[in-house]
Amino acid sequence: MSTGTTLDFNETQLFIGGEWIPAQNGATLPVINPATGEAFAHVSDATVEDGLAALDAACAVQDAWAATPARERADILGRTYQGIIDRRDEFARLIVDEMGKPWAEAQTEVDYGAGFFRWFAESAGRLHTEGQFGIEPGSNYHIAVSKRPVGPSLLITPWNFPLAMGARKVAPALAAGCTTVLKPAGQTPLTSLLLAQVLQEAGVPAGVVNVVVTGKSRDLIGAIMNDERVRKISFTGSTPVGRVLLAQAAQNVMNTSMELGGNAPLIVFNDADLDTALEGAYLAKLRNGGQSCVAANRIYVQSGIAAEFTKRFTERLAAITVGPGHEPGTDLGPMIDDKQRATVHDLVTDAVAKGATCLTGGQIIDGPGYYYQPTVLTNIPADATIREEEIFGPVAPIYTFDTEEEAIREANGTPYGLASYVFTQDLARALRVANAIDAGMTGINRGLVSNPAAPFGGTKQSGLGREGGTEGLEAYQETKYTGIQL
Ligand code: SIN
Repeated sequence: MSTGTTLDFNETQLFIGGEWIPAQNGATLPVINPATGEAFAHVSDATVEDGLAALDAACAVQDAWAATPARERADILGRTYQGIIDRRDEFARLIVDEMGKPWAEAQTEVDYGAGFFRWFAESAGRLHTEGQFGIEPGSNYHIAVSKRPVGPSLLITPWNFPLAMGARKVAPALAAGCTTVLKPAGQTPLTSLLLAQVLQEAGVPAGVVNVVVTGKSRDLIGAIMNDERVRKISFTGSTPVGRVLLAQAAQNVMNTSMELGGNAPLIVFNDADLDTALEGAYLAKLRNGGQSCVAANRIYVQSGIAAEFTKRFTERLAAITVGPGHEPGTDLGPMIDDKQRATVHDLVTDAVAKGATCLTGGQIIDGPGYYYQPTVLTNIPADATIREEEIFGPVAPIYTFDTEEEAIREANGTPYGLASYVFTQDLARALRVANAIDAGMTGINRGLVSNPAAPFGGTKQSGLGREGGTEGLEAYQETKYTGIQL
């Protein structure tokens, strides 16, 4: 069990070319514990030159890493999986301290993140046994199709899952034979630095993984993106930032994976098992305090069970224990920072001012720390901003619907298409509705779809490409076709 804000991990410098080095100008960034609002560590704050040095290191070993036998790469990934599991508590403690989620959730994230290394270790082992060899239909012209790594990759990760988001990018990149520059979010750099240490111990050669933390993201990323040696960017974050990166990627026609914003609908039909639906809605809303792009943002309940669902869901949220993530019994930790909390509170205040009913919560909890009350809203008017925007906090808007068509129309009435959830005991309806929802992922009778073995990603403005599953590896591969005239 964690004991609170202690830093027993001492690598706080940049990881470039297999060395731990300070920023070239000696600058550091504070890492704030959101449960206290206080800095508990300082990490090196990379300059643009540091970022380019990391890219140089990645490019210098790209060919050698691509030529490393896939089985050898798989073994390194397998040892990384084990290394993370062996240091489960250390990772969980860092995640609690820099991100704020409760201890049990942090441990779950460690398993989730480690799972990507296991999954892609298994994939890497089979890599070069895949491909095609065939003959063109009208002649004896032979066609060989194989896969090759896309090349040096820039990986940009958010603060909400400090280990899992890095793991979901680094593991497939290494499996495919790509070298990497990982830039974690400034709020949660320590977990990525610990991951670099584990990767190094697992035998990742110098330069294959580089980690740069910076408070000057725009400049550093812009400089790297401007360099035509970078062949891939994988980004998890907001849709507005994704648009900027896509425009930058266009300059060098770079391969992109974009996991962007979501506005997930969760639909509960009259025939749903109510306990299952309540449990699923709780998980889909409260996992990570709602600070997730797959969080249920719009809960649609059919009119026959709306009153009962709303009553029980509100009771459950009102009973939540809010507190520091490392305290036993905490269900909901702090939000990441004051800015995020203010954004969420503005959405609630706007909805209530326009006529919404707040059944529980709705207030900032006095500090220290960035806590927000778990909140349930109903009767939300058509002009409330919360109907349109990603919430990223512990606020559950509940809407009532009558027909299946209405539920589908509402669910699809957003520019986003990441996750969605459907609760019903009618299998035909479940599949029909899942098929009709324009989203990359639909959970049927479950409030969690994230899994290393499954392709995570969205449609519309929720992004491009998939992470995890077999698609997650393909995202770091190019198709090579060799024509053979015998
Ligand atoms: C995210 O919120 O960005 C990812 C959540 C997940 O992987 O479950």
